[in-house]
Amino acid sequence: MEPTLRQRVDSAFARHIGQAPARHVRAPGRVNLIGEHTDYNDGFVLPCAIDYETLIAAGPRTDRQVRVVACNYGEALDQFSLDAPIEPRSDALWANYVRGVVKTLLARGLPLQGLDLVVAGNVPQGAGLSSSASLEVAVALAFKAMQGLDSVSATDLALIAQQAENQFVGVNCGIMDQLISARGESGHALLIDCRSLALRPVPLPDGLAVMIVHSHVKRGLVDGEYNARRAQCEAAARHYGVKALRDVNLAQLEQEARGLDPLVLRRARHVVTENQRTLDAADALAAGDLVQLGHLMAASHVSMRDDFEITVPPIDQLVAILQEAIGSLGSARMTGGGFGGCVVALLPEAQVAAARLAVATHYRAPGGEPASVYVCRATAGAHVLND
Ligand code: GLA
Repeated sequence: MEPTLRQRVDSAFARHIGQAPARHVRAPGRVNLIGEHTDYNDGFVLPCAIDYETLIAAGPRTDRQVRVVACNYGEALDQFSLDAPIEPRSDALWANYVRGVVKTLLARGLPLQGLDLVVAGNVPQGAGLSSSASLEVAVALAFKAMQGLDSVSATDLALIAQQAENQFVGVNCGIMDQLISARGESGHALLIDCRSLALRPVPLPDGLAVMIVHSHVKRGLVDGEYNARRAQCEAAARHYGVKALRDVNLAQLEQEARGLDPLVLRRARHVVTENQRTLDAADALAAGDLVQLGHLMAASHVSMRDDFEITVPPIDQLVAILQEAIGSLGSARMTGGGFGGCVVALLPEAQVAAARLAVATHYRAPGGEPASVYVCRATAGAHVLND
């Protein structure tokens, strides 16, 4: 049998550090049900935390070194001092998520001491399920838990992780991934207002399956495309004279479009309509109205494909296969940053087998592989384990 994450971190801890860890913390990945590229426009998103996670075993040190063992990278090591400038590594990109979080904690004036961290995770990488956010949030929580940083709230953990990703890793992401990883609730999706960071937990109805289908389309050039979309949204907000596209409604979008580049207008239309769909989807989910939820998910996919242009043909095909198999109770759409990665489907549990079969029969990635299917549970956000 494959060792569990817990067994992996504990045995690596014993071998590399020579004792047992003091604490374990976990932080989950996420799937976004609807509300794509709305977070950095101060808009609305509806993700849930999933039962795939990063687990860290942590132990105290008497010096001011941080030592990290990455089980997913052949137990590769990184070590750095809290007293010297913390720089990114170009030869071990995984290490930058840890370094970035530590640098951000220090920049906030938090009193840190050295720590040993052994890390393992099972969030599929490069799939758009936020493996990096789960690592960042787990690292921040390890320091909070080990060093009694009581002033750091769960939302702060997310903001610290996002700042690390923006300023150290260099991806200009919004707050969604880190916030849901820090604050997810078991059995619920969270409607997040990305301006106020207010959360509304929305229970997932009994009998509803959350199915994630990994297309195995490699996400090339993602960061460049992502940052370009963000710049286009900011340009549109400037045109409309608002702080963020959150502040534009559909009527205003059309009435005041004169002079706006038609491409930028389409980008803005995606964001404005997606915000409304996300609010409507939270209500539909709360009411258990799978037909309405299905319409909104399908419309979200079309908007991402035609207006925001972040889907790719194999993903469109996978979505069509799932929609056909699911029928009117639920639907499927691409989830995450785009250009490959995963599709999310919401459907009655009784239809999961038929949806799996349709995907296995009709879908192959460009490289020939079949899709991978994960039926997941909505889990709690980051926490310290009761060892
Ligand atoms: C990535 C980013 C998020 C969000 C999504 C798109 O996951 O990290 O902040 O912008 O893309 O919805």
